[in-house]
Amino acid sequence: MGKTIGILTSGGDTPGSNAAIRALGKAAITNYNMELIGFRDGFRGLMENRFVVLDNKMLSGILTLGGTILGTSREKPFRMNVDGQEKDMTTVIMENYHRNKLDALVCIGGNGTQKNAYHLAKRGLHVITLPKTIDNDVAKTDVTFGFDTAMSIATEAIDKLHSTASSHHRIIVVEIMGHKAGWLALSAGIAGGADVILIPELPYTIEKIAESILERKKMGKSFSIIAVAEGAMSHDFSKIYSELQQKIETAGDENSKNKLMQERSELDILNTSNTLRLANKLEELTKLEARVTILGHLQRGGTPSAADRLLATRMGTACAKFIEREEYGVMVALKKNKIITVPLEDVVNKTKKVPVTHQWIKSARRVGTCFGD
Ligand code: F6P
Repeated sequence: MGKTIGILTSGGDTPGSNAAIRALGKAAITNYNMELIGFRDGFRGLMENRFVVLDNKMLSGILTLGGTILGTSREKPFRMNVDGQEKDMTTVIMENYHRNKLDALVCIGGNGTQKNAYHLAKRGLHVITLPKTIDNDVAKTDVTFGFDTAMSIATEAIDKLHSTASSHHRIIVVEIMGHKAGWLALSAGIAGGADVILIPELPYTIEKIAESILERKKMGKSFSIIAVAEGAMSHDFSKIYSELQQKIETAGDENSKNKLMQERSELDILNTSNTLRLANKLEELTKLEARVTILGHLQRGGTPSAADRLLATRMGTACAKFIEREEYGVMVALKKNKIITVPLEDVVNKTKKVPVTHQWIKSARRVGTCFGD
């Protein structure tokens, strides 16, 4: 018999996760005679030892399914809610890993998952990860699966908003997910022909956005579509945020660091109503009617795109091969169209942001897109 592998999906559900589970499972069973078990609901299932055997039958018919057949959660091994209290459950997780005689644990997820997986790898577990998130913000991989599907969904939404915005001569502000990175808003904004794109990497000035809308009006275009990333910030807000961030990084003791982090959470909460504030202010400055559409979790739903199925299949099958070679403590990544592994320590505690000189930004500027900067 080959190795026994545990798999879990953690963090926000992402289209392509089932394609990855299927690819890894089928490749592992067929090529290496491995056995697989899938833990339910991320690290919580591993802690509670809740799992399902992933045989060929379970792995069949899931390629096109959205979400994850294993379920997911945002639970962290070292800070898990147990009986209403946050507890470090790392030891229990390690016991379950050994109880199931696992040779390796595959964690499929975004930045939070990479961090949790690294935590377990440092404790000696044989961990390997796959990068999945619609945000495309995981470091050391060119792309994550889930991103392409979400980009298509957001693009289609912008397409649809065009006709209603144009008919009513309105501004439509469409909020696009992406956490603290602008990949999704930028790509869907470009593909959908948004007139203004606002991303966290380029803080904006509201007056400049209003100016560009009024400029369009002068040219006979009485409507505008604004694609705003959920993490986008005005110049003023971004200044306060960056100063706080700097204070966190240089905080002397754990106590003051925690206080500053609490302040940052409060700012994050305040920024969640940014899109509404932006629409109101633009209405005031341009005297045009404005409406808001928040795409929200629609962007994570439904069947994965062909590109995501392909990427997840490439990463999943390669993962089986890396496990056979006993390459642990690594993330499977795509670099220049090649599937490689990168050490987890190089991935964690980083957010892959859009470089401000990125080709996509340059192209958008060349077609006249306003970034409000
Ligand atoms: O990380 C994926 C993502 O969809 C982000 O774009 C978004 O900020 C977040 O998850 C939403 O999380 P939740 O589903 O927990 O509300």
